[in-house]
Amino acid sequence: MKFFIDTANLKEINSAVEMGVLDGVTTNPSLAAKETASYNELLQDICKVVPGPVSAEVLATDTEGMLSEARELVKIADNIVVKIPTTLEGLRAVKALTSEGISVNSTLVFSASQALLVAKAGASFVSPFVGRLDDISTEGMQLIGDIVTIYNNYGYRTEVLAASLRHPMHVVQSALLGADVATMPYKVIAQLIKHPLTDIGLEKFLEDYKKKMQ
Ligand code: E4P
Repeated sequence: MKFFIDTANLKEINSAVEMGVLDGVTTNPSLAAKETASYNELLQDICKVVPGPVSAEVLATDTEGMLSEARELVKIADNIVVKIPTTLEGLRAVKALTSEGISVNSTLVFSASQALLVAKAGASFVSPFVGRLDDISTEGMQLIGDIVTIYNNYGYRTEVLAASLRHPMHVVQSALLGADVATMPYKVIAQLIKHPLTDIGLEKFLEDYKKKMQ
């Protein structure tokens, strides 16, 4: 399973790179708005430290606007993947961009039917938003399972990128269901390694050893 970090904050990205388990980055306009640098500057800096896919989202909502923004974004670095919202206009953009050889991450996916369409259009990644479905009392993880099944049924090569993950169990459940990628905030990556029994066990080992040495 690939791990992406869901942030535009360079400090968090550098810390995740140092952990040695980071495969890529996802950003979105809300995440970029939290930072002081411009979106383009941020993307340039991120692509210098992360060699894997870095998702950069378009702001246009019409197909032509999405296409021209996407063509500019991919000039920033070779590893830019363009994030396109999953609307009818977005679907047309996915088809056009993939036929130009531009890698697309179809974002804001909330149904299996949307996932089926973007796979047919050739998206490299599909991003189902698990946490936001949970927020409206719908089982977000069910969508991950459905998309994995559908893609396996037909051999679609679009990678399932479980997004809007809010806690470690979202990551574990995505892995159990066979999602190709999990994108998560820095806090969740850090939480994945923590277990109180590990800390208690380590403390006891060191204490016992110290006693024997006295
Ligand atoms: C994914 O690419 C999105 O940027 C992200 O996962 C959204 O997460 P949120 O619902 O916590 O904002």
